[in-house]
Amino acid sequence: MLFDTHAHMDDHAFDEDRQALLESFPSQGIALLMNPGCSLETSRHAVEEARQYDYIYAAVGSHPDAALEVDDQVLETYRQLCRENPKVRAIGEIGLDYHYEDVPRALQQKAFRAQLALAQELDLPVIIHDREAHEDCLRILEDFPQVRGVFHCYSGSAEMARQLTAKGWYVGFTGVLTFKNARKALEAAAVVPIDRIVLETDCPYMSPEPFRGKRNDPGRIYRMAETLAQVRGLSVEEIEKITLENGKRLYRIP
Ligand code: NI
Repeated sequence: MLFDTHAHMDDHAFDEDRQALLESFPSQGIALLMNPGCSLETSRHAVEEARQYDYIYAAVGSHPDAALEVDDQVLETYRQLCRENPKVRAIGEIGLDYHYEDVPRALQQKAFRAQLALAQELDLPVIIHDREAHEDCLRILEDFPQVRGVFHCYSGSAEMARQLTAKGWYVGFTGVLTFKNARKALEAAAVVPIDRIVLETDCPYMSPEPFRGKRNDPGRIYRMAETLAQVRGLSVEEIEKITLENGKRLYRIP
């Protein structure tokens, strides 16, 4: 059984068959699923889903693309959603995206800091989106020394992964692991301590090979487990067991 630690089931790509998919997870070998929010609207959706299905958990937060919506009122709504719903287990996904840079960097950083402060206040882990912004991300995190969580869709170097995991962070690997040009992700997956790795689909994006370019869904998480098993010289069963435990530890799920 696997834990998809990052799946956007609220995405419109699932509007036609969402319910059937959500109900199919146990029969597809998916034990648990974390649906992170990307905005106030999608965070509410994630919380609602987590209330309906035992095996689904939620995170609330505004992605860097939605950084402009982050004000005191939105933060207060996130605070209430966390307090009122025990299945909200993290703040995320939050961070910096300098690849698309839909929002000016300074405003992304402001929203990132405000949400890190909320995670610190509520003692919740964070789900970090860091795209081509490693330096600023690490610099800002230094100001929140108690905050830990996961670097989702990990895209940094093996060395950076080693440093992060030594400090107690987790790294999340997506279908990128299976891509033919995935050298960097594979290098990181090969060296980080095995108890710091979580698997994720990031669906509907990042579909693994041989489904690259198609809509992704949580049922494809097994491809990441197979690839990681090869990289680490372990059986798929061992990888399933280890990464499931890691995800539970990360999100504090008993
Ligand atoms: Ni995501």
